[in-house]
Amino acid sequence: MSDPILKLLYSREQIATQVHRIAAEISHDYRDQEVLLVGVLKGSFLFIADLVRSVTSPLVVDFVRLASYGSETQSSGIVEIRKDLEMPIRGRDVIIVEDIVDSGLTLETLYHRLMQRGPRSLKICTLIDKKARREVAIEPDYVGITMDDGFIIGYGLDFDERYRNLPDIYLVEGP
Ligand code: IMP
Ligand code: MG
Repeated sequence: MSDPILKLLYSREQIATQVHRIAAEISHDYRDQEVLLVGVLKGSFLFIADLVRSVTSPLVVDFVRLASYGSETQSSGIVEIRKDLEMPIRGRDVIIVEDIVDSGLTLETLYHRLMQRGPRSLKICTLIDKKARREVAIEPDYVGITMDDGFIIGYGLDFDERYRNLPDIYLVEGP
């Protein structure tokens, strides 16, 4: 595979600013309330790691791993939970933490599955909101950066499992 052409889109400083802003919003909204943050693996691992370190609310962390069938860059909407939560969420205040919402199909499925378990509240937090490509009516409650179309990598986001380790976010322009 030849290396794609990458264009810097969001620097680590820009990302950090947005992560801190979201953390402040969550800390305000869940002042004296324990919140359960559900990281969606693998893409959100860096985001949730940075996020939890600046949220001041009492919190616990759990993870889910989803498998969505489709091509590398296009989701089919058929979503399977490959690794489920380890904690029960009934009666709890829960926030799903995603790296990016694109068509919204993955998140919609997860949202409804978790809703069936009777949480007290269920919100959605995403670092990136790719609004232009939304196919379902799903609105994240906490959004870091809104962008139009384009495939991005870095800061947890991958292209064929690679580039998750890049500290900044890049737009894939080629080859
Ligand atoms: P959706 O179901 O179309 O919203 O797809 C969401 C999932 O597709 C995300 O959680 C990512 O794993 C992946 N994805 C969507 N857009 C991008 C991107 O630009 N870069 C890397 N992964 C992406
Ligand atoms: Mg993801």
